[in-house]
Amino acid sequence: MRITFIGGGNMAKALLGGLIGQGYSPSGMQVVEPFAELHETLSQQFGVRCVTAVDASSLLCDTVVLAVKPQQMREALTPLYGKLEQQLVVSIAAGIRLADISRWLGGYLRLARAMPNTPALIGKGVSGLFADPSVDQSGRLNAERVLNAVGSILWLQDEAQIDAVTAISGSGPAYVFYFIEAVEAAARQLGFDEPAARKLTMETFLGATQLAAQSAESISTLRQQVTSKGGTTEAALKSFAVSGIAAEIAQGIEAAALRGRELGDSLGRDAGASGHA
Ligand SMILES: NC(=O)c1ccc[n+]([C@@H]2O[C@H](COP(=O)([O-])OP(=O)(O)OC[C@H]3O[C@@H](n4cnc5c(N)ncnc54)[C@H](OP(=O)(O)O)[C@@H]3O)[C@@H](O)[C@H]2O)c1
Repeated sequence: MRITFIGGGNMAKALLGGLIGQGYSPSGMQVVEPFAELHETLSQQFGVRCVTAVDASSLLCDTVVLAVKPQQMREALTPLYGKLEQQLVVSIAAGIRLADISRWLGGYLRLARAMPNTPALIGKGVSGLFADPSVDQSGRLNAERVLNAVGSILWLQDEAQIDAVTAISGSGPAYVFYFIEAVEAAARQLGFDEPAARKLTMETFLGATQLAAQSAESISTLRQQVTSKGGTTEAALKSFAVSGIAAEIAQGIEAAALRGRELGDSLGRDAGASGHA
């Protein structure tokens, strides 16, 4: 697979590391990164070709990965306008819709969009993936290979589901960190020093999530198995129920999905941006 990354930041590095770790050849990969200081790290770490701007060689690929910040997308697409032929273009930018990318590329349709999450930086991400219906099986496979380099994937039937993926798994690591912080703070209040509170909390999260991932039982059954009648866990869960924590979480996630739709609307606007209308 020959891949050109537009943008050589954190996500591009995670994807390059994952792909090379899976046996893809660095000679098939290139990075277009305007910040020349990053080139030395990228070429030393991964052995890939780096250029500051799109040139003829960088278009000699079968897949283009758009790994720039959403606000940088329109400008980053300008040099590709009218130059793409058969390459699959995969965007990992949060919020930007395929219709907007297509318009900024002059109607190009061989497009896919992914929403990864930060555990991708250690190869443990999960990405929602959506491709334009015109993308064939080989194009879909290429998109899958790129995102599988940093974790698992879930194909979506409808692009609007990306906003829900953003609200669940995109923002999800922050929800988990929030819960970890709260449990760790409670451990401190119960008298543990910082290292002990951290150890007890982290090992509990790691152990519980691994048990849940490996178990054939439902999460609800696993929870009930820890909750004996009249016991300590039941006391905590009753208190959570009185506070309505589950409903609050659902409401927060709904707010995240709504914000995703709003950001998609504003990021896709042409007003104020330069380049093609
Ligand atoms: N990090 C995550 O876990 C994560 C999760 C989900 C989605 N994403 C998405 O992934 C995308 C990349 O995120 P990131 O964390 O890798 O961002 P990042 O570290 O800022 O990387 C973006 C890179 O693109 C470069 N760039 C800017 N304009 C460019 C242009 N016109 N042509 C080529 N390259 C250009 C930037 O250079 P300068 O620094 O010089 O501007 C920067 O090095 C974002 O859209 C984000 O929404 C990231």
